[in-house]
Amino acid sequence: MIHLKVMKAKNPEEVGKLAADQFELAIHAKPACVIGLATGSTPLPLYRELIAREKAGKLDFSRVRSANLDEYKGLAPDHPQSYRRFMQENLFDHISIKPENTIVPDGLAEDVDAMCAAYEKKIEDWGGVDVQLLGIGHDGHIGFNEPSNHFTQMTNEVKLTAMTREANKRFFSSIDEVPTAAYTMGIGTVMAAKKIVMVITGEDKAEILYKAFFGPVTPKVPASILQFHPDVTLICDEAAAKLMPQ
Ligand code: F6R
Repeated sequence: MIHLKVMKAKNPEEVGKLAADQFELAIHAKPACVIGLATGSTPLPLYRELIAREKAGKLDFSRVRSANLDEYKGLAPDHPQSYRRFMQENLFDHISIKPENTIVPDGLAEDVDAMCAAYEKKIEDWGGVDVQLLGIGHDGHIGFNEPSNHFTQMTNEVKLTAMTREANKRFFSSIDEVPTAAYTMGIGTVMAAKKIVMVITGEDKAEILYKAFFGPVTPKVPASILQFHPDVTLICDEAAAKLMPQ
């Protein structure tokens, strides 16, 4: 374990507040900072908190740039389950961030290699990600980087595992509607972020939290690579921290 900082909170709302503190610090230090964002249930309290803090005049997103981790292949930006739409509804539509300063992989890309290369180039042109937000899947995935025999490098297309499709079917009317593939920043893209903030809540994530941060580093648990990142802040609630060594 190298530079892991752990913050334990009572519940998911408190995790959201502690994570919001990290983003507030970053934005105050650098008003045009680049933040990497995630979708899913875990970041929702954080997004609510960021919206409230800007409304209260404590934060200003007008110069912030953001790059999302992933998007389903084949979903249009305005599809109800697209990650672009999720970000609009849960964050972007309620803060002063400029639309041109938010990027999400294009689910409808015709030339996938060109889209992925352009995504990496945009992040590079912005000067790289200053703070990357991550959640974790039950199988240890980060972004849509699923367990594999190797760590993926840059933004790329991935097939979704049965476990991930099953976990995400709650948002669709049936499993058949859950896309079978997605575009995601690679592990290499994530590891290039200057700072990483990972949020984990719920007892159902206690085992994978343990494996990711206290087990062996292996592409079978993609998040375990974070043990090699120099600046990771893990913010979790008591339920998720249940198996964590004291
Ligand atoms: C989504 C993403 C995923 C989620 C993970 C956990 O952009 O990157 O890796 O973070 O699937 O999702 P929740 O928070 O819904 O448990």
